[in-house]
Amino acid sequence: MPHSTQPDTTVYPPSDDTVARAHVDAARYDEMYKASITDPEGFWGEQGKRLDWIKPYSTVKDVDFSYGNVSINWFSDGVLNVAANCIDRHLATRGDQTAIIFEPDDPDTPAQHITYKDLHEKVCRMANVLLSQGVMRGDRVVIYLPMIPEAAYAMLACARIGAIHSVVFAGFSPDALANRVNDCGAKLVITADTAPRGGRRTALKSNADAALLHCSDKVRCLVVKHTGDQTTWINGRDVDVNALMETVAPDCPARPMGAEDPLFVLYTSGSTGKPKGVVHSSGGYLLFAAMTHEITFDYHEGDVFWCTADVGWVTGHSYIIYGPLANGATTVMFEGVPTYPDASRFWQVCEKHKVTQFYTAPTAIRALMGQGNQFVEKSDLSSIRLLGTVGEPINPEAWNWYNEVVGKGKCPIVDTWWQTETGGHMMTPLPGAHATKPGAAMKPFFGVEPVVLEPQSGEEIHESPTEGVLCIKDSWPGQMRTVWGDHERFQQTYFSDYKGYYFTGDGCRRDADGDYWITGRVDDVINVSGHRMGTAEVESALVAHAAVAEAAVVGYPHDIKGQGIYCYVTLMNDQNPSDDLVKELRSWVRTEIGPIASPDVIQWAPGLPKTRSGKIMRRILRKIAENDVGSLGDTSTLADPSVVDDLISNRTK
Ligand code: WTA
Repeated sequence: MPHSTQPDTTVYPPSDDTVARAHVDAARYDEMYKASITDPEGFWGEQGKRLDWIKPYSTVKDVDFSYGNVSINWFSDGVLNVAANCIDRHLATRGDQTAIIFEPDDPDTPAQHITYKDLHEKVCRMANVLLSQGVMRGDRVVIYLPMIPEAAYAMLACARIGAIHSVVFAGFSPDALANRVNDCGAKLVITADTAPRGGRRTALKSNADAALLHCSDKVRCLVVKHTGDQTTWINGRDVDVNALMETVAPDCPARPMGAEDPLFVLYTSGSTGKPKGVVHSSGGYLLFAAMTHEITFDYHEGDVFWCTADVGWVTGHSYIIYGPLANGATTVMFEGVPTYPDASRFWQVCEKHKVTQFYTAPTAIRALMGQGNQFVEKSDLSSIRLLGTVGEPINPEAWNWYNEVVGKGKCPIVDTWWQTETGGHMMTPLPGAHATKPGAAMKPFFGVEPVVLEPQSGEEIHESPTEGVLCIKDSWPGQMRTVWGDHERFQQTYFSDYKGYYFTGDGCRRDADGDYWITGRVDDVINVSGHRMGTAEVESALVAHAAVAEAAVVGYPHDIKGQGIYCYVTLMNDQNPSDDLVKELRSWVRTEIGPIASPDVIQWAPGLPKTRSGKIMRRILRKIAENDVGSLGDTSTLADPSVVDDLISNRTK
């Protein structure tokens, strides 16, 4: 990570106020945690009552973590509907309460306050639109929308009729979209004309058009007329959602679904191959999202909760939509960016909507910290009671700034460690129960049993302090169930390296107090501005270019992004390196994957360091990218050690 490499060991105990208000204090945490581990059936059987069940479950947990037989089931004979849990059950008590505050990109456009009643009607209409297009239970619907209320309507409409949604982040390229549509066999894609962000507009519909050229011609395209910008229109394929929503019935029965029926597929990057479709369940996922939302953020009636993530990522799924709405909360949905029109936007939005819990990523905190305190200080942040971070390790400077300048030293910071695969928080301090330390994820959530393993032997390390790879010993309800269409890949990725455990791909440290610190990925996944990226994906995009013979991609410390993308590129014999080619390769990767994968550094590499068996030694490439060439380690096993000297002397500054 950038900045300090030494942890800040200051301990911040929770304030009396925080403890007094919290759902869970230290004693309660200890008691509940113990129960959750020693008697998961009893514990989760009780917690499952947080949801409304059409038919209650009689079994709670049915799990096998053994490689070859991995199978994960929770509440499997229970029947429920996720949308009914997020909407209908609140209508009697809080129908007129705001469910979603939509804050548009342009600060001068009024915010929308969507009540639970409004949400019910919109979701029902959207569900009826989907039914009118022949979408049936179990069908996949790809949602390629910006951060607008229709994204929430579409997700919940799918849940209402038992269709499986797959949200594709609107920053992904047409190719990335097409791959996802094809992988999950989607019946239709929901998109918008254009998407305003930071005062500029992305042509989403034309991206979808380009993507659909590579998909079955049976795939329909539902278009939200958001800005009213002109788009192409293919009669028979394209459907005007807004117009159709006006003509269908305002009510639509919520379909009874099994707890284990998939709610959504969300694609995420791994260390090998193409992105995986992470499959989440209806019952266990929703319960875990709701419970973590309430307890980690100490959510209370009347709070205004703001998670700044995009719905295209799991954080948006669990903490903009499903967790908050299952709890009957008011959730903020923000279309814009933190620095538009200026670096006070986040804080202005907090002031305007009297946000009580604010949840963002370290990369945003670092970027805003760099703009100076005046942007924070001109806003009234007195409504904020709790701050949260997610997505990557937070460096102590950013943590301290967040604590002092944003939180005025009065707000607990929950540093929540979790993953697309885990559905919800796995480790985090709980505000009323635990002290915080700058950069520590501290303690496991209920039902989560973290273990630190010795990386080579896979032996569990019991003593503290220690460091190793992070695995989880047993299942929790929010765990992913499989990889879409490839259960073998699921087992291979998460259960084969360390048998009997779920392997997270992260390294971690447990300090002398038994508190956990995530040290970052131990595989070939990098974390760029809180976005998870497989280096293999960027490599395959690069080698798809005609000028490129070979490419190796690693992460390197980047002040704002956390990690930047450093690419070593070997050109074809007949190609010459040039600045133009650097530009071309950058834009090539943007087109293949999306702007988030844009290389930060491209270094020409006449050769790559390989073992005699031809394996690229990434460890060495990482050290060179980090400019840590003093500790390259043993290079004598390389087929051609001189390659390394060349890479060092031509290192791109
Ligand atoms: C990293 C995001 C340190 C980690 C919810 C994990 C973190 C990956 C933290 C998952 C944190 C997430 N501290 N690292 N608080 N939260 N990570 O799937 O490496 O986009 O494996 O899920 O982000 O990223 P994903």
